[in-house]
Amino acid sequence: MSNRDRLKAQAAEEALRLLGEQSVLRLLGLGTGSTAEIFLRRLAEVYRAGIVPLEGGVPTSRRTERLARELGLPLTTLEEHPELDLTVDGADEVDPRGNLLKGGGGAHTREKIVAWASQNYWILVDESKLVPRLGERHPIPLEVLAFGQRVVERAVRALGGEPRLRLRPDGTPFETDEGNRVLDCAFPKGIDPTDVEGLARELSAIPGVVEHGLFPSSSVPGKLQIIVAGRDGIRVTRLSAR
Ligand code: 5RP
Repeated sequence: MSNRDRLKAQAAEEALRLLGEQSVLRLLGLGTGSTAEIFLRRLAEVYRAGIVPLEGGVPTSRRTERLARELGLPLTTLEEHPELDLTVDGADEVDPRGNLLKGGGGAHTREKIVAWASQNYWILVDESKLVPRLGERHPIPLEVLAFGQRVVERAVRALGGEPRLRLRPDGTPFETDEGNRVLDCAFPKGIDPTDVEGLARELSAIPGVVEHGLFPSSSVPGKLQIIVAGRDGIRVTRLSAR
């Protein structure tokens, strides 16, 4: 196991510990990515052992849904449960204000919907994900309708971004679970933490953008908690809802 995977596992363990303390959290949003997967595998173990009660989970991607089924976790939908108790997910970057950059796996649209349906939102990261400014290392992913791709690209350039179509290894456009394309938009100087909410609004206002990967901490409707695993141990930052 790599050192980063060890830290991800420690963050997942802390989330399980916190979950075990709150048996009222029974309807869960299930995140996407390697960190969320580590959490899911351990969640399935404690669920099967009867340690953590779970009514149902809403997966944020087909990939997560497949894994959750394999692990025997009970699943539900937003149709049945439009309000969830808690979503646990990973992130690509976290800035000092707790703003998040997500969508490395292209699942950010469903991830955001599920997060916004949740009363509590826990983000698990290893300390390498902490950055002074979002976007310095990863582009901001925009899920876009193919019809509007060129128009979105122009609008992103006008905002100072450099859009690039995400491709599969075979060179064809990557497709999200919704059948849309992803434009990875580089903002090489990064985004000042005080500007994240404004840029998020501007990106959302471009016609043809289904969803972008910025999750400003001040916009998350539920209680946001960021669980960071580092060499010096676990740090939990709680950011209250508005
Ligand atoms: C997927 C995501 C993931 O949460 C993000 O990419 C982090 O993944 P990992 O835990 O593998 O580093 O937003 O769309």
